[in-house]
Amino acid sequence: MKHYTIIIFGGTGDLSRRKLIPALMALADKDPRRHFHILGIGRKPFDNKGFEEFLLAGKEAHPRVGLHYMIADIEKNGALETLQEHIAAIEPEEPAGRIFYLATAYGFFGKIAESISRCCNINDRFFTRIVAEKPFGSDRESFMKLDAELLDRFGEDQIYRADHYLAKDTVDNILRTRFSNPLFERVWNSRAVERITVAVHETMGVGERINYYDQTGAIKDMVQNHLLQTLSLILMRAPDRQNVLSFRKAKTDAIRKLKFRGEIRTGQYGGYQEEVANINPGSDTETFAELKLHSRDRRWRGTEIVLRTGKKLKKQEAYIEIAFKKEPCNAYCEFDLPPNKLILHIQPLENVELTINSTLPGEKVKLTPVKMIYCPTCEFRANTPESYEVILEECIRGNKRLFMSGRELDAAWQLTDRVRKSIRQRKPEIYEPGIDF
Ligand code: BG6
Repeated sequence: MKHYTIIIFGGTGDLSRRKLIPALMALADKDPRRHFHILGIGRKPFDNKGFEEFLLAGKEAHPRVGLHYMIADIEKNGALETLQEHIAAIEPEEPAGRIFYLATAYGFFGKIAESISRCCNINDRFFTRIVAEKPFGSDRESFMKLDAELLDRFGEDQIYRADHYLAKDTVDNILRTRFSNPLFERVWNSRAVERITVAVHETMGVGERINYYDQTGAIKDMVQNHLLQTLSLILMRAPDRQNVLSFRKAKTDAIRKLKFRGEIRTGQYGGYQEEVANINPGSDTETFAELKLHSRDRRWRGTEIVLRTGKKLKKQEAYIEIAFKKEPCNAYCEFDLPPNKLILHIQPLENVELTINSTLPGEKVKLTPVKMIYCPTCEFRANTPESYEVILEECIRGNKRLFMSGRELDAAWQLTDRVRKSIRQRKPEIYEPGIDF
């Protein structure tokens, strides 16, 4: 049996309840040799039983997932002084590892890191890893500060900076699709590609997260992380070596080479003002952003890059679209044929879709765009693991491929700061909920 101690700061938060705990249960289910001892830390006045009821809401507890709780208000000095005792009370003698999951506001990361390093001896007998979640700061400066605070207490090899988009199957498969298919990699450049679009459209509004969201907005909530991370996998050059360092370097280079020339459209859904009235009346926070980027990399010079995300839009969907250039006039000039497109659907379905022009049965003279679709989830009825299962699994295995380096985040923040600066004086356009904006 392998025992793992998982300490979740922000244990009663949304992420913990909706994502982390179910993911740990699923991981325990998949491997009967695993036992998770979870310590949730939060302000709510629960005992262990109350914590369990809060998380499971009537569902049965997993026999190999122990749920324990520690009340602590991290804002208060000395709140984590009894952390060691709480861990000692639940941890078996020889755990295989400890994971500290920082699911709190980033402002607490430094304080938590300090408490962990003071309380919990880091040794060679089992691993100690820290998983930190976005948002990593609110600008480059705050990011640099919090990252330095983590690095002050832990080695880079212990820090796992998570972005759950990297754990989505389609996103994780981008490099395999590119580098194992010369068909794509040969045309993966500005000679062939007109435009790259990365889009995440959501139908839901901000809801209960208004306090967080109003200070964040679509650019910092989505573009700085999920969209830029996904884009970096599309744009990056092949890593020099088959290791995580080279891989991260190639991603960082791709982000650093992005140029923003002020081409941006922002919006706010109608009704947002009512939601925000109590905390920030007249808020200018954007719930939609569409921006154009360009790359200084010779490979991509001339290709237009579009990032788009928004809440309360018409459709719930996320995809990457590679639109190829149109052929100059050839034998089929008389038809106004659309360009070929490769669309990698991230959700709701995880599809690879290639549009080509072809004849439909019986139509000898006419050309029509048709889709070639590979849908792994439909074809193999595979039960793809939820992103947080993948994040936790990879962290347990010590595999850092799906986690980000500080340099990548630094580059992403530099770009994000420039984008944010460009809209400082601008009010977002109000859009009607449920439309294609
Ligand atoms: C989160 C953002 O990181 O990602 C949310 O904070 C957003 O605002 C969510 O809704 C989208 O993730 P997914 O996996 O549902 O596409």
